Amino acid sequence: MYKLSTIFTCLLVALSASASPLSEKRDANFASDVWDPKITKPSFGTIWKVGTNQTIAWDTAGIPESALDTRGVIYLGHLQGDSEHLDIAHPLASGFTYRDGSVSVTVPSVDTRLDYIVALLGDSGNISPKFMIANFEFMDKITDALGITKGN
Ligand SMILES: *[C@@H]1O[C@H](CO)[C@@H](O)[C@H](O)[C@H]1NC(C)=O
Repeated sequence: MYKLSTIFTCLLVALSASASPLSEKRDANFASDVWDPKITKPSFGTIWKVGTNQTIAWDTAGIPESALDTRGVIYLGHLQGDSEHLDIAHPLASGFTYRDGSVSVTVPSVDTRLDYIVALLGDSGNISPKFMIANFEFMDKITDALGITKGN
């Protein structure tokens, strides 16, 4: 019995050692350069309102010196099924470098959803946790039509 469990443990160790992470497979040509800028904003549970100015931020620690001046692109997507549904035709932000650590964006007029993500692309790719974008344009139109004004 002892021997059998030892063999089983050895098998498990061997299996997990041979399993390569997904990112390694995706970036097989850059295997030695794989790095993963963790997106710190938006965080899980964040709510963005359409039309507002918001900050997307990432952790610059761990980005190789040679990649710091690489230009990045950020796309908006939503996680549904096993797809990120990135809106490649309408980048949220571009022209910044990884060194910047953050970039501000105006939230586009998209449908209200709870499963939005942003993807930071360049040499590597990474996505944020899920967050919400709230589109109140319809409600704003109604309040305008009823003459309910906010402020002055
Ligand atoms: C967001 O606001 C900041 C601070 O006022 C400003 O510098 C930046 O240009 C704005 N970004 C956008 C995308 O409007």
